[in-house]
Amino acid sequence: MPITFIEDKKIFKLDTCSTSYIFCVEDGEFLVSLYYGKKLPDTNFTGYIFRDYFVSFNPNSPDVKDRYFSPDLAPLEYSGFGAGDFRKSAAAIRNKDGNIVTDFRYVSHEICSGKPKLKGLPATYAEENEATTLYVTTEDRTTGARAILQYTVFEDLPVMTRSVLLENASDAVMDVEKVYSASVALPDMDYDFLHLYGNWAAERHLERRPLARGQQSISSARGSSSHHHNPFAALVRHGADEDHGDVYGFNLVYSSNFDITADCDFYECTRINMGINPDGFTWHLNPGETFQTPEAVMVYTDAGIGEMSRIFHRLYREHLIRGKWKNEKRPLLINSWEAAFFDFDTEKLVSFAAQAKELGFEMLVMDDGWFGKRNEETNSLGDWYVNENKLVGGIGELIRRVKALGMKFGMWFEPEMISPDSDLYRAHPDWCIHVPNRTRSIARTQYVIDMSRQDVRDNIFGQICSILDNYDVDYIKWDFNRNITEAGSALLEKEQGKEIFHRFVLGTYELMDRLLTRFPDLLLENCSGGGGRFDPGTLYFSPQIWTSDNTEALQRLPIQFGTSYCYPASTMGAHVSLPHSMDELVTKGNVALWGTFGYELDPGKLSEEFKDVVKKQVEEYHLTYDLIHYGDLYRIISPFDNPYHCAWSFVSPDKSAMHFTHVCMQYHPVMKRIIRMKGLDENKMYRCRETGEVYSGALLMNAGINVSKFPRDAGQSFTLYFTEEK
Ligand code: GLA
Repeated sequence: MPITFIEDKKIFKLDTCSTSYIFCVEDGEFLVSLYYGKKLPDTNFTGYIFRDYFVSFNPNSPDVKDRYFSPDLAPLEYSGFGAGDFRKSAAAIRNKDGNIVTDFRYVSHEICSGKPKLKGLPATYAEENEATTLYVTTEDRTTGARAILQYTVFEDLPVMTRSVLLENASDAVMDVEKVYSASVALPDMDYDFLHLYGNWAAERHLERRPLARGQQSISSARGSSSHHHNPFAALVRHGADEDHGDVYGFNLVYSSNFDITADCDFYECTRINMGINPDGFTWHLNPGETFQTPEAVMVYTDAGIGEMSRIFHRLYREHLIRGKWKNEKRPLLINSWEAAFFDFDTEKLVSFAAQAKELGFEMLVMDDGWFGKRNEETNSLGDWYVNENKLVGGIGELIRRVKALGMKFGMWFEPEMISPDSDLYRAHPDWCIHVPNRTRSIARTQYVIDMSRQDVRDNIFGQICSILDNYDVDYIKWDFNRNITEAGSALLEKEQGKEIFHRFVLGTYELMDRLLTRFPDLLLENCSGGGGRFDPGTLYFSPQIWTSDNTEALQRLPIQFGTSYCYPASTMGAHVSLPHSMDELVTKGNVALWGTFGYELDPGKLSEEFKDVVKKQVEEYHLTYDLIHYGDLYRIISPFDNPYHCAWSFVSPDKSAMHFTHVCMQYHPVMKRIIRMKGLDENKMYRCRETGEVYSGALLMNAGINVSKFPRDAGQSFTLYFTEEK
C-alpha cells in the first residue's frame, strides 16, 4: 500500500516509487513530522523527534505527558499560530473572541485510492490506480476550526501533492488570516535555497544561496504569480548538482499571490511553508463554510537537480496538461505581434498567412490590435468586437481567406483587462478592480477588470462566444498585461475586503474553464507580458504559455534554462523573430526548438536565402517534435554557470534518439571542446547525423565528443542528432 497507518505506533507512512514521507500522532494528538526523503522500509522512529530544550522558553502543552515535548521544538506537521510554536506557522484563524490562537490536533483519518479534484482550483490529476490520497482531519478544540490535510502520493513518480481544506465547524464566524497549503519539516539546514527570479523580458533566472538561520522567502503580491518570482523553490543539498545529490522541489499550482518561506531555527532545522501569500489575505468563513487552499507539489530525488526537473516535466505532461492538446501535435504558428504590432489589416494578415504557408507554417495568430478602435495600447480593452476599418469584411472574411490557404487561425484576447477609453468602461466604471475614494493606478493605460464578479465574467464570456460561436477559431492567446493595485471589488462586503485577490483568480480560472468546456478543441496559450504568469495553475488550462517577450536568442537562454527547472519544453512558447544575420537566424531557430516552436516576423522581410533556412528549421521541428515534447531534457552546460557557451539535449524515453544543441554566447578559448552527453544507454550504438560517425552511448557519456570543429563563435550555434544504430 502506498499509504499505511501503523496503528500501534500511530505512524503514517506515505510511499511513492522511491520516496517516503512519514509523520505520526504524538501524545496530545499533535501531528509530528518524522521523515521525508529516499524510500525507507522502517517503521520504528522511536526517539527521532526528541530535542534538548530549555524549559523556560519552549512551552509545553499540559495535554502532553512527556514534559520534554514542546510544540516549539517538535517538527510539527501543520502548525497553528500562538499555541506554543513560535516559528512561522502554517495557519492563523481569528475566532469569535478576536484572537488568532490556532491549535490543530489530530481527530481521524481516511485513506482512499485516486485523487480528488479541488473545488474551483486547478490541480494535478490521476486515475484511481495511479495515486492514493490520505485525508487527516484535525481540529482546534477551542474554536471548532477544522483543517483537513490532504496528501496524495503518485505510484510511478516520486511526487506528492498537498492541500488543506479548512472548515468552520463552529456556530460563529471566523476569519482565516493565513492558511498555507503545506508545511514540510527537515531535520537540518544544510541546503541551498534555489529559486527563479526575474523581470519583464528576463523571467526565471536562477538564484541559489545557502539557507541561513531565520526566514528566507519568495512571494508575489501582484495578483499573479509574476515575472519576479515563480512559485517554485528547491532545497538542494550543499554540493549537489545537475546529476547528483539530494533535491527537494516545491511548486504551487496557483497563479496569484503566493509565498514560499524556509524558516531555519536555532536548532538548524528547516520548515518550508508554501501557499497563498498571507500578506493582504483574509478569508471570512461563516459557520459550515469551507476554504480550499491551492495544491502544493513536492518532488524528492537523490539524483540531482536535472532529475528533479525531469520528474516535474513528466508529472506536468501526464498529470496536469489536459484535453485534446495533451497529446496532439501543436500547430507551428506565425504570430503577428513582432511582425506588425498594431499596424495590420486583412490584406496584410492574409499575405502573412500565404507566405507562411509556403514556408510550412500551420497557423496564423492575429495578435493585439483587431478590436474596438485599437491602433495603440491606450484603448478598447473590453470591447471585444472587430475593428472593421482594419478587418474589412469582418473577421469572417479574414478567417475564410486564411483557412482557404489551409492554415489554422488564432487570435489574441486580454479578457481580464479594461481600458478607461472603452465602451465597456464608459458603461460600467465600477467593473474594474478598485477601492472607494482612491485613485486607480494605471498601467499600460489599462485597468484590471473585476473577475471576481459573475456579471462581469458573463459579459466577457458572452463577447468571446459571439466570435467563437460564429467563426472557426482554433487558438486563443490569453494575455494579462498588468498587475493588480487598489485591490477591491464593488460587490464585496467590508469583511471580505481581503478576499479579492483569491476571488479574482478563482474568477479567471472559472472563465477559462467555461471557455474550454464550451470549446474543447480550442488551443489556449497563456501570456502575461511574456512569461509573467508561467505557473502550473495556468498550465492546467493552457498547455503552452508564451515564455518571454524577449526573443533575442542569447538573452533567452537563461530564461529557457530557468523555466526548464520546473516546466517541460512542451509548455514553453518559443518563437523566432526577425533575424539580422544568418547566424542569428540559425541560433534563434535552435533556441526556439526548445519549446512550442513558432515565428513572430513578417515573412516578406526574409531573403530567399533566409527562407531556405527557415524551411530547414521547419523540417527539423517535425523531425524532433516528439523527442522535444515527450523526451527527457538534460542540461549539459548552463548559462548560469558558464558565461561563454551552453548546451542541452533531449533524449527519447526509450533512449534511441538524442537531439543536442550548443550555443556560444561569447567566444573564449577556454570553452569546453569535449562535451560529455547525458541520459543515453551505455550499451546502445548511436549514429551522428552530422558526422556520420557511430559511437557507443558509453563513449558519448564518458569520453564525450569533440565539438571544436563546429560553429563556435559568439552568437553561433549547432545541433547534433543521434539515432540508435541497430
Ligand atoms: C504582451 C505579450 C505580447 C503581445 C502584446 C500585445 O506584451 O507578451 O506577446 O501579445 O502583449 O499587446
